[in-house]
Amino acid sequence: MQPLLLKIRKDKVFDANSSTWKVSSSLPIEYAVVERSGFFFQPDYDESIFGQKSDDGMTRRLIVIDHIVAKYFGDTIKSYFSRNDIHVEFLTLTADEELKVADTVFSVLNKIIDLKLQRRSEPIIAIGGGVLLDIVGLAASLYRRGTPYVRVPTTLVGLIDAGIGIKTGVNYDTHKNRIGTYYSPKSVLLDATFLSTLDERHLRNGMAEILKMALIKDADLFSLLEESAHQIVDDKLQSHPHSQAIMRHSIQSMLEELEKNLWEKDLERLVDFGHTFSPTIEMKALPELLHGEAVAIDMAICIIIAHGRKLLTNDEMDRIFQVYKALGLPIFHSSCEIKVLCDALDDATSHRDGLQRVPLPKGIGEGIFVHDISEQEIKDAVMVLKEKAL
Ligand SMILES: NC(=O)c1ccc[n+]([C@@H]2O[C@H](COP(=O)([O-])OP(=O)(O)OC[C@H]3O[C@@H](n4cnc5c(N)ncnc54)[C@H](O)[C@@H]3O)[C@@H](O)[C@H]2O)c1
Repeated sequence: MQPLLLKIRKDKVFDANSSTWKVSSSLPIEYAVVERSGFFFQPDYDESIFGQKSDDGMTRRLIVIDHIVAKYFGDTIKSYFSRNDIHVEFLTLTADEELKVADTVFSVLNKIIDLKLQRRSEPIIAIGGGVLLDIVGLAASLYRRGTPYVRVPTTLVGLIDAGIGIKTGVNYDTHKNRIGTYYSPKSVLLDATFLSTLDERHLRNGMAEILKMALIKDADLFSLLEESAHQIVDDKLQSHPHSQAIMRHSIQSMLEELEKNLWEKDLERLVDFGHTFSPTIEMKALPELLHGEAVAIDMAICIIIAHGRKLLTNDEMDRIFQVYKALGLPIFHSSCEIKVLCDALDDATSHRDGLQRVPLPKGIGEGIFVHDISEQEIKDAVMVLKEKAL
């Protein structure tokens, strides 16, 4: 009689030499990031974004929406779905950094359970800023270990960053985004007309993430910012001749960086520029500093360090801080004590598997990683920034 083991070996799962079952699989990721202006004013339903309608004429969708977005755009969004014979249930959330916690995720899960959403054919639609998208993404990834969801970012941070990748998460204890998942959306709808109602501070906040991509990866984007920084905030990226190019450059650069390293196996990530000290600064200064503002301060520290290491010339540094000024971005905050910054660097180092892996700009539009930033360099940078901020 044939031994049973031979049969198992045929499946290539069992390795008789090491008496080990090896399981391996791969998870292809594919989602479309669709740019459409004034989308909800269009007449026709787009199945490629919001999923197929059901044959029985009873199509429904759960829309989790930011409370301010609901105020400005709720009726337009409702009527888009109702004229396409889709019943929508709205769950309106107040989503700010302090409510970015597990309990808010549970409130979304409760709604999903109440509605008995179909786990494959009724994608959840998340419409809001980065906080709401992170919360709903986490709920969608947890519900039955994964139910489809669509992201519709409505802030600048959402449109060029939080809305287009696959990370979800919430804050835990005093730790920023400490719990979360990698879970790709079914699709992403980018409609920059949402920015028309965004307040100026949140607009500037998003500009920090755009400046990040310009400094570390995209010199052309930096030139566009240099030429228009004074006007684009007032214009809310609606009609300035550079608006579309700035958005497209930012999204393209971001997606290039994310796509090659979606699961963050490689811990040297250019998009981490501005994200070494900022998670700690942001949580310490809550609710005073917004995410992008903390990122701007972190980048400012790194720019001074890069200048000290001759990675940036005087002229490049001056040009960068002129754009900071034109965009109205902060370079310093009182929470930036040396101990706080050193602890932040230690924390980042432990997240990056024991090496600092701090991205620094090398010239404008390129970056390198360093692993040896010293306390003295941080002290020197803080001194320079304190003076500049006066
Ligand atoms: N998952 C990721 O990859 C990723 C990437 C970057 C940032 N983030 C997260 O994103 C969050 C920041 O996102 P954010 O800057 O969008 O902040 P946010 O989500 O807190 O939104 C900012 C404010 O804008 C309001 N708002 C939203 N859309 C509006 C509109 N169209 N008009 C008027 N008001 C509007 C909201 O009610 C809120 O008060 C942080 O928690 C950060 O960790 C996540």
